[in-house]
Amino acid sequence: MDPVAGFDFTRRLQAVSDRDVGRPHELFLGPANAFDAGRLGDRLLFPREMTWFHGEPVFEAMSDEQRLMLNRLSFCQSYYSTAVAEAATNVLNYEAALDAFIDDDPDVALYMAREVTEETVHIQTFLTVIRKVLAHYGLGLDDLRGANPSLRMAKRYVQGHSLLGWLRGDLHYYYFTRFPLNVNQKTVERCAIDEPDLDPSVREILKNHAIDEARHMQMSRRTGQVALSRMRPWARIPACLAFARFAAGLYIGRHRRDGRLPRETRTRTLMLCGVPEAEARAAYRAWRDRTNQPDDPPLVQAGRLYYVKRNFEYVDSLDVPAWTKRRMKRVIASGYADVLRAERSGELRPLQLDDLERAA
Ligand SMILES: [Fe+2]
Ligand SMILES: [Fe+2]
Repeated sequence: MDPVAGFDFTRRLQAVSDRDVGRPHELFLGPANAFDAGRLGDRLLFPREMTWFHGEPVFEAMSDEQRLMLNRLSFCQSYYSTAVAEAATNVLNYEAALDAFIDDDPDVALYMAREVTEETVHIQTFLTVIRKVLAHYGLGLDDLRGANPSLRMAKRYVQGHSLLGWLRGDLHYYYFTRFPLNVNQKTVERCAIDEPDLDPSVREILKNHAIDEARHMQMSRRTGQVALSRMRPWARIPACLAFARFAAGLYIGRHRRDGRLPRETRTRTLMLCGVPEAEARAAYRAWRDRTNQPDDPPLVQAGRLYYVKRNFEYVDSLDVPAWTKRRMKRVIASGYADVLRAERSGELRPLQLDDLERAA
């Protein structure tokens, strides 16, 4: 039988999820409630080398307290974006579940709906921690959201996929493009978990989150394969190229192409840490143009390479002609030329991320 013929794999995912679904307090909300932003000391909430502007002159000129604040606000921005992206995927997951309840296997629909339950707990958990961190600095959620214009993109993502799904009669394109989002998020999260100076409650939350998300990523990966195999042959090539362009556009660290989203989010977050606007804007330009640090910090480079390698593996797993795979990889590589060059010269290896397990 064709290994990507159907959605039977969701039964295995559901069985794994069933073991944890009754434990939201133990795994997520308990550690979030126990988290105390007033007792952080000098502990971090985000990978040190992934802190925005790490190693730049503006960063070196900041006080120790400001640098810690920037690390923690990098976490808040990153995880508020994650929470909003999870709310966005929930809308699409439930649209897909609705279709499956009506026309397809209701057990598959139940697993799609299960992910909605899990993401809702994740969102509540992140919101609890983020609010405490902001309150510690005398900030509110509106300060954070006002400095993050990327949040609205999640709405456009939902609208675009809902429209496409309505026109096509299925949500195949949505599932097909969800995989790169999962890999991107996983890369940063796993670096945070491995950060030696991370706050222990937040580490526990992120570890439990990464375990759930590893399963969500399997759902994306396998559903994407099935979706592609069910598309009409003429629709597969544009779908593959759209996937590649989407994957190439997601970034960790710096991309060659500048955009309003990284520019405004990073500049305004720097301003929240007390850097005057003119200085913050100049610092962003210098960072973007690689004026002071031509190469990203080693952890950022290794993360970028990890991201691109996992996407290449996924491309290789798809049931499309070899020339399509080559073309997809070329498109993805165009956004990541810096780390692929460093890898060829032997300077760089991707991260090694072994499977995580729940604490007993
Ligand atoms: Fe999540
Ligand atoms: Fe997820």
